[in-house]
Amino acid sequence: DAAESAPAIVVGSGYGGAVAALRLGQAGIRTLLLEMGRLWNTAGPDGKVFCSTTAPDQRSMWFRTRTEAPLASFLWLDLVNKDISPYPGVLDRVHYDNMSVYVGRGVGGGSLVNGGMAVTPLKSYFTEQFPTVDADEMYGTYYPRARAMLGVNTIDPAWFESTDWYRFTRTSRKAAGNAGLKTTFVPNVYDFGHMRQEAAGTAPKSALAGEVIYGNNQGKRSLDKTYLAAALGTGNVTVHTLEKVRSVSRAGDGSYVLTADRIDTTGAVVETKEYSCTYLFLGGGSLGTTELLVRARDTGTLPDLDPAVGAGWGTNGNTMLGRANHVWDTVGADEATMPVMGIDDWANADNPVFAEIAPLPMGFEHWISLYLAITKNPERASFTYDSASGAVKLGWTAAQSAVSVRMAKKLFDRINLANATIYRYDLFGSRSKVFADDFTYHPLGGCVLGKATDDYGRVKGYRRLYVTDGSLVPGNIGVNPFVTITALAERTMARVLVEDTAP
Ligand code: FDA
Repeated sequence: DAAESAPAIVVGSGYGGAVAALRLGQAGIRTLLLEMGRLWNTAGPDGKVFCSTTAPDQRSMWFRTRTEAPLASFLWLDLVNKDISPYPGVLDRVHYDNMSVYVGRGVGGGSLVNGGMAVTPLKSYFTEQFPTVDADEMYGTYYPRARAMLGVNTIDPAWFESTDWYRFTRTSRKAAGNAGLKTTFVPNVYDFGHMRQEAAGTAPKSALAGEVIYGNNQGKRSLDKTYLAAALGTGNVTVHTLEKVRSVSRAGDGSYVLTADRIDTTGAVVETKEYSCTYLFLGGGSLGTTELLVRARDTGTLPDLDPAVGAGWGTNGNTMLGRANHVWDTVGADEATMPVMGIDDWANADNPVFAEIAPLPMGFEHWISLYLAITKNPERASFTYDSASGAVKLGWTAAQSAVSVRMAKKLFDRINLANATIYRYDLFGSRSKVFADDFTYHPLGGCVLGKATDDYGRVKGYRRLYVTDGSLVPGNIGVNPFVTITALAERTMARVLVEDTAP
């Protein structure tokens, strides 16, 4: 069969891929977007597109027989996870030797499953991580552009102080305050106007019905509602779903050739397709893009890729933990799923940590304060191609996770001491596990800007090949990453469309 060809192909429809698709479409360039997950726009038998977190079904996770929620247990009981049938569900947990990584699958990538926290890092830390990027231009142009397109908004502080749905956050704020720590509101892409209607009973509940990691049926401005809707609106962008790109090579004329497996909803490969394009944009995320390029370099289909491809990967220092509050410090039976506040101790040079006050909606009072700590863990790992198995492996070690745990523990020991409270021991499966150090929500790096690529995401060694996603970020950005990923992708597209696509 002849390869289907398009001037531009974008692999993956998360933040990096969505920005690329929109800006290519607006420039009048016919673009094909290839996404391995499904399009989440059709209601299931229950009338909903996404399933709930309390009664997950096949829609919850990517080809699993049992869900693998981040909080494995409660009072050590496996109450949280449920048996499901294999299906291209919206949340995946990718397992490597000492680290597993949560990612979104579907048109919209991580935006379908994430907490919506839309945080811009401190300019000083951005400069530390990206010394070759003009920070004034980022903070003057690309961050504002990204926030506007993503639909970032903030909670009304008066409503926050009064609503039962954020009692859990106020309780955690008080505990942090008792330790002399600063808390700060963080913006979100969930529509807070919608959330208030949910609270008032005038709109169907989503964030107030426990929905988040398996998708939100209402209220969330995920990429399919923002960037991707606009991309399709240009008339130049076509999306193919349930197609996983498995290899990339280059033809004699310099065009790129992709092989993709089209799967059905049982996961069976029903067709293997060939595509070709002049411009190739990789937006498969830190794992997806890095895996494609490491494999291409080490199997010799793109042999001139830089040795830096695969290196510089980190977890954004992620560590999850819970504290037990005193009986009189209730968190409430009602918890909104969208985090709106963080404990900001990043300026503490001895132990920089930014900890999101995370929800744990269970529908009853449990006195737990849950946190996702982002620590300034300097550890990095590399992906390598294992020719024996054909797999791409990640060299992250347990000792590297221990660095994040030590940093999180320092901060939360302070909070516990000041409040005479203790950690929860029953949340992460095995007995007495306090810190969830074996998974991350924030995979970053693998094709680091200025190392595996030039300063604009152009892949070294090849023309018209670009990375636009989280693989560009060198392992840590100090806050939740998607606003930075989006802003960097905007910066890449602005440059590439001016310099590289002139006839
Ligand atoms: P992203 O992972 O979004 O998209 C990649 C897409 O490419 C996916 O749709 C994938 O299926 C597809 N793909 C990969 N390989 C492919 C291949 N070979 N062929 C075809 N398709 C392929 N961040 C934040 O800033 N605030 C927050 O509140 C949260 N909360 C949060 C909660 C949870 C549960 C998770 C899992 C993650 C978060 N995050 C977050 C992280 C955030 O979602 C993440 O950083 C971004 O989605 C990364 O964007 P990318 O564009 O890099 O890839």
